[in-house]
Amino acid sequence: MPSIALVTCEKFPSLYGGEQLLPPALQRAGIAAQIVAWTAADVDWSRFDAVVLRTTWDYFERYPEFCAWLDRLEAMGARVFNPLATVRANSDKVYLQTLERLGVATVPTCWVAPGTAPAEVQRQLADLIWPEVVIKPSVSGGAFRTERLSLADLRARCEPLAEILVDSHALVQPFLPEIASAGEWSFLYFGGTFSHSVLKQAKAGDYRVQMTHGGRHTLTTAPDELRAQADEVLRLCRGLPGGEQAWLYARVDGVSLAGRFVVVEVELIEPYLFLDEDPPAADRFAAALQRIL
Ligand SMILES: Nc1ncnc2c1ncn2[C@@H]1O[C@H](COP(=O)(O)OP(=O)(O)O)[C@@H](O)[C@H]1O
Ligand SMILES: [Mg+2]
Repeated sequence: MPSIALVTCEKFPSLYGGEQLLPPALQRAGIAAQIVAWTAADVDWSRFDAVVLRTTWDYFERYPEFCAWLDRLEAMGARVFNPLATVRANSDKVYLQTLERLGVATVPTCWVAPGTAPAEVQRQLADLIWPEVVIKPSVSGGAFRTERLSLADLRARCEPLAEILVDSHALVQPFLPEIASAGEWSFLYFGGTFSHSVLKQAKAGDYRVQMTHGGRHTLTTAPDELRAQADEVLRLCRGLPGGEQAWLYARVDGVSLAGRFVVVEVELIEPYLFLDEDPPAADRFAAALQRIL
């Protein structure tokens, strides 16, 4: 029986939410799963047939440590999903620049490099015309340090950007009201095959769709044209590092702007899979892993 590690963080010793459907689904597929925190001491990761990243949701708050852990996995010769090259590339939202070059429609972004001097930040902001913006760190998850404010406010107060620029790029984007009104889509793929889609909506008065910010999500079949665009995004993503290897899971997140699918992010490290919305999806995940192993 193949044996795999489902990797979590210390905060979620038994995974979280719908992810908890994975161990029994894997068991049904003849795969023994052990839940292990990425920070656990003295783990020989190479003894697993696969090391599957799941609820490692503190990685962006402990980023240097997490990168060192990825290096250790590589040195040990562990078989990691998604592949390490993909995980490394996906851990910093600068990969969105690569996606844009590959032909993916992404949210227009002003990129401010870490350590940029305040005067230069002001010069970059002077070029922008969006009345309302969202700022966020390039190494982030769960809307960590994400803020919505007017461009005038951002120009007047440097602190929110300065705080981000200490250790990552900052993304400055136009605020997309469609995210707050219609919601943000997540398209889930296992082993490259579409599994299900979810529409995530923010609570009234908010724009962040994450559950931790009071957002809710519903299993929703997207219009065919939107789904086709998400499929095409995943195909183009294969141009990212590690894209020539198998991806066990992928989540394409984006918003429909008058029928045009625009990518907010593609999650290839530890996306929440919304398995509780569609329990057979856990079996599809297990079957995808079985095929890859
Ligand atoms: N340009 C934007 N306009 C409106 N809302 C946004 C925008 N960018 C992000 N958001 C909101 O913030 C959330 C977090 O941003 P995201 O880029 O997905 O980063 P992460 O999920 O890694 O924290 C999104 O799910 C969405 O609710
Ligand atoms: Mg997101």
